Amino acid sequence: MMRATCALAAQTLQMIREHIRPGVTTQQLNDICHEYILQHHAIPSPLNYRGFPKSICTSVNQQVCHGIPGPRVLNAGDIVNVDITTFLNGFHGDTNKTFHVGLPSPKGVKITEVAKKCLDAGIRVVRPGGFFGDIGAAIEAVAKRNGCSVVREYCGHGIGRDFHEEPAVLHYGVPGTGARLEPGMIFTIEPMINLGRPEIRLLPDKWTVVTRDHSFSAQFEHTILVTRTGFEVLTDLEGEYREGPVQATQAQ
Ligand code: MF3
Ligand code: CO
Ligand code: CO
Repeated sequence: MMRATCALAAQTLQMIREHIRPGVTTQQLNDICHEYILQHHAIPSPLNYRGFPKSICTSVNQQVCHGIPGPRVLNAGDIVNVDITTFLNGFHGDTNKTFHVGLPSPKGVKITEVAKKCLDAGIRVVRPGGFFGDIGAAIEAVAKRNGCSVVREYCGHGIGRDFHEEPAVLHYGVPGTGARLEPGMIFTIEPMINLGRPEIRLLPDKWTVVTRDHSFSAQFEHTILVTRTGFEVLTDLEGEYREGPVQATQAQ
């Protein structure tokens, strides 16, 4: 059931990609995703979730997350994160990516590349017997090495019958600390990475999170299953993580 809903969320994200071009509004992206999800016998989880008014989140440039789709027109050089969560047959699947609008800008390239590397670093350390702290530490190390910062107020989460379940998956931390990773656990990893300082501010709409210093922010999210040997990325449609964990080359 989780594989099915996660595949649909990933498929929706792949479908919307070609619609992201200069001149499109975030409301149009919302409506296309909304129809697509309904056509696939699912419901967009964000709609009416704690009063959220739309079906997807669209976060542009210095917006960190939870941007509300509306009349805003996307321009060349913008970056936009599209966050899709589907509710199919009683289970939620959650994934997001940050896209370039038109020709990529240097700032956009830098922050999206670092944010993607941060997510990948977090995923690659997932294995049974490991710790949640390993994930956060791996993400933080990549962000710091690249002169970027990790947003601390929002985190990944367990997911399944409920949209947001325990535990909170922090995107910073210390290796070997926190709860143990066990086979069968399913949670998201979704680091929000800022080009400047980590501090954020909430806009008066009570949803849109922005960087305090107005620096660009990017995010990538996958839903992850802990397997007996490592991890499976349930929202990986492209087969990017198909190989699973890289085996140690040498026994200790
Ligand atoms: N999809 C977001 C997440 O990754 C949550 C969005 S909540 C909403 O957890 F209400 F803003 F949709
Ligand atoms: Co999530
Ligand atoms: Co999400």
